[in-house]
Amino acid sequence: MPKGNIKHEILVVAGHDELSIRAAKEFVRIAVDSIQIKKNFTVVLSGGSTPAGLYKLLASDDYREQVPWPNVYFFWGDERCVPPDDKESNYNMARQILLDKVPIPKENNFRMPADQADHAQASAEYEQMIRTFFHTKTEEIPRFDLILLGMGDDGHTASLFPGTPALFEKKRCVTENYIEKLGLYRLTLTVPLINQAKNIIFLISGESKAPVLKEVLEGEYQPQKLPSQFIKPVDGRLLFIVDRAAASKLTNFSKYC
Ligand code: 6PG
Repeated sequence: MPKGNIKHEILVVAGHDELSIRAAKEFVRIAVDSIQIKKNFTVVLSGGSTPAGLYKLLASDDYREQVPWPNVYFFWGDERCVPPDDKESNYNMARQILLDKVPIPKENNFRMPADQADHAQASAEYEQMIRTFFHTKTEEIPRFDLILLGMGDDGHTASLFPGTPALFEKKRCVTENYIEKLGLYRLTLTVPLINQAKNIIFLISGESKAPVLKEVLEGEYQPQKLPSQFIKPVDGRLLFIVDRAAASKLTNFSKYC
């Protein structure tokens, strides 16, 4: 992130378990606050492996009772173009670990229909689902209470990969994105939609992320190469919860502890 002009917080915790615990506490706090104020909590789940520990905790006896699940509305930040029961599906991961274990009405789960053959049609449909839920007019960007994000070791987040067309999408909230290096399409929320959120939390764990995290947070501002640098909330909170291994190359990272 360019020094100084992005208000973001970095919380360094010992390891992946502590990262999941801290993320669970943040999830519960934001959920309870949102539901108290407006009777609902809208959250975008991240894919990948890092958030699995968080989802497991939320479904556990320690946390399950703390969340008024019928008032929680789940969306996804991105999805692979596979069936919803595929092992690669972000929806399937969250469903198995969390959604099937808490009393969520099925109409509260807004799965990204990335398994549809027509990716453009699927992303337009998902955008319409989001807009209808939020009752927004075309030019207004919906505002989620919480968006969870991961970061790849190439600096991508959601399915906003370096040098891909989706990085330049300024109008749409959801888009299909062809990832050349993977040779496949994915669906992803766009930068304008993500940056409209009230709370954005990155969950980043492991030594493999240390070099790119240093680049993203302390290096030159080059978001086309490091798409996580595009994430700058318009009017919200940006929190990085990272473990010591991922933070190990940050300058004086101890000051974040
Ligand atoms: C996905 C994610 C992706 C993920 C990062 C980090 O669909 O894979 O949305 O952006 O968050 O690649 O993945 P890990 O948590 O597995 O390191």
